[in-house]
Amino acid sequence: MAKNKIVVAYSGGLDTSVMVHWLKNHYDAEIITCTGNLGQTKETASLKEKARASGASKIYYIDLRREFLENYAFPALQTGALYEEAYPMATSIGRPLLAKTMVEIARKEGATMIAHGCTGKGNDQVRFEVSIGALAPDIHVLAPLRTWEFKSREEEIEYAAANGIPVSATVKSPYSIDENLWGTSIECGVLEDPMVEPPLDAFQSTASPELAPDESDEVTIGFERGIPVSIDRREMDSISLVEFLNSLGARNAIGRLDLIENRLVGIKSREVYEAPAATILHFAHKELERLTLDKSVAHYKSLVAHEYANLIYNGLWHSPLREALSAFVAKTQERVTGIVKVKLYKGTIRVIARSSPYSLYDSKLATYTAEDQFDHTASEGFIKIYGLPLKTYNSVGDIVPSNGKKNRQQVGKYATVE
Ligand code: ARG
Repeated sequence: MAKNKIVVAYSGGLDTSVMVHWLKNHYDAEIITCTGNLGQTKETASLKEKARASGASKIYYIDLRREFLENYAFPALQTGALYEEAYPMATSIGRPLLAKTMVEIARKEGATMIAHGCTGKGNDQVRFEVSIGALAPDIHVLAPLRTWEFKSREEEIEYAAANGIPVSATVKSPYSIDENLWGTSIECGVLEDPMVEPPLDAFQSTASPELAPDESDEVTIGFERGIPVSIDRREMDSISLVEFLNSLGARNAIGRLDLIENRLVGIKSREVYEAPAATILHFAHKELERLTLDKSVAHYKSLVAHEYANLIYNGLWHSPLREALSAFVAKTQERVTGIVKVKLYKGTIRVIARSSPYSLYDSKLATYTAEDQFDHTASEGFIKIYGLPLKTYNSVGDIVPSNGKKNRQQVGKYATVE
């Protein structure tokens, strides 16, 4: 009989390397590893050799950077989706793409199982499993880290040594780090104490505001339908544009975040984030929307952004509600075209200029000079009718309590009482 085939989400780190070997033995299976390149820089050296030495018989290393930005991160940007009004969700938004990629490989290879290396207390296990379940209900998902015998990193290292699994020689960081083009998530170690300020070594790319240059940097970002397309009026592909803003922002200490957040699994956790490009782009995009969106659309869209962020964070990207909200957002973005110029300085971003062919800013209406075309006299009637309900409400008078006696203290300020 043909062997079981398992597609393993492989990062190149200790957990997933041990997992490849462990699964091969426990399931008597052929292991196919899948690594998606979302722009991470750690553990990428000799990744294929490590996977092979851990027991993989087939190795996929797929460049997903463009798809990640254009089909996942940018739609979240257009929506203005920030989890708990702060986190641009670099980690969260990568999971549904990795899940989709693993399902595609499983189909191609005729595998019936997919395994991931997430722990049993995080959000990522939910995101992977719910996404895989939505895309391929027949595929069985394995999460060895929830059940296997290893109780510590040391025990995993021992197992690795005993079984010829290569472990990176580099000193292990005291933090758990997840990195991609859209941002970096950093937790564990001293960061578990919410009273401890993140030490300098927790940050992977950004300068501290205190150490950032004394001169500000200015940058002009061009958007088309809510998608960033140019820097300083030069068109750029998505990857170069995000890489450019990551380095410019990092140098100016942009995009750091120290967050106590609510995980889906009920735990409050503390995580530190760095997301220079995502932070600059969310800021600039919002400024362009201030100029181009109709007031009621802008106000309503913030409700959608809140819901959309929850859907991404909670693993429901591949859901009909997320798709329906995306259609709404795409409609709102039709006129979000133009440029926004921002100034970056020691951890702060300021908008200094913006323009759009669809700008709703009408200087003839806004000006306080002789050019003014706003009809001042129309305001009188407007205010009369606009304020009418409140006048009516407050002239009715007293609240009559259920005992029928009027209570003097509750009398409206302008009402009369007999
Ligand atoms: N809390 C973030 C999220 O759920 C990041 C999780 C991964 N963090 C990490 N340091 N490995 O999206």
